[in-house]
Amino acid sequence: MAGSIGSVISVRDFDRDQILHVLSVAERMEAEDHFGLLQGKVLATIFLEPSTRTRLSFASAMMRLGGQVLDFGDSEQSSFKKGESLSDAIRVVAGYCDVIVLRHPWEGAARLAARIAGRPVINAGDGANQHPTQTFLDLYTIRKVCGRIDGLTVGFVGDLKYGRTVHSLATALARFDCRQVFVAPPLLAVPDELRQELDEAGVGYEQTEDLHAVLPTLDIIYCTRIQEERFADSVEYERVKGAYRVDLALLREAGARDELRIMHPLPRVDELSADLDDTPFAVYFEQARNGVPVRQALLAMVLGQA
Ligand code: NCD
Repeated sequence: MAGSIGSVISVRDFDRDQILHVLSVAERMEAEDHFGLLQGKVLATIFLEPSTRTRLSFASAMMRLGGQVLDFGDSEQSSFKKGESLSDAIRVVAGYCDVIVLRHPWEGAARLAARIAGRPVINAGDGANQHPTQTFLDLYTIRKVCGRIDGLTVGFVGDLKYGRTVHSLATALARFDCRQVFVAPPLLAVPDELRQELDEAGVGYEQTEDLHAVLPTLDIIYCTRIQEERFADSVEYERVKGAYRVDLALLREAGARDELRIMHPLPRVDELSADLDDTPFAVYFEQARNGVPVRQALLAMVLGQA
């Protein structure tokens, strides 16, 4: 398996052992300095949707391994403005680098790019579909803070319909012995295809709107932002806006476990209160930091160096 991953497009392409292998390479990256491992290699980052953590942690990961980074920049200033197609842009950028990290609003964009690039492509989010590298850092964080992945109850809260981090992580957790609880109003419920996938895999999950009731059973709350930009209808967004707010008072009232850990891919808007930030429940800033070793591992692996 080592070094044999071509591109990173979807968590569906990884079985349990392959996932665990990525996590162990990430552990090595965090434990030791690997500066020089990717010396002479160039990463091109193409982000056609907003990004802070994913773009910067990929750049940081590449630099920490001695590689260099070319950023495509703002699409408004690029050849897309002149009408260039995604496939032409990918073919051209592929000639300037060794690996491409792509974020694009279309579902399937990364898969298309991987077919034509002739270089490894890493999906940094394709619309509401998948965000596999976030999932690897989420699993890495879960294992680090809980000591294991198997046996945990993970409650997803917020926008389970459009949240790609939710879709990827739920698929990955289906490879482990976890109980998944999906907490959302009907308008934000997990897509049918994901439920079908879990059903076919024989994975147990629950759906509810009542966070208060399930909270005492949770080991992890995976809280997410309502993805305003993905709503076709702004009236629908207004109806679900502010549907949940996780704060210290809620945890106390509902009787959360002391061991409960709260994750969030960030950015947060109003669904997660800052009054949790300095409590042991909060692991979301550590989660964001874990993006660096995990992305170091993925870059090294797709480039055949780990
Ligand atoms: C997420 C994304 O882009 O899907 N952000 C991230 O990569 N950490 C979550 C979000 O935008 O809400």
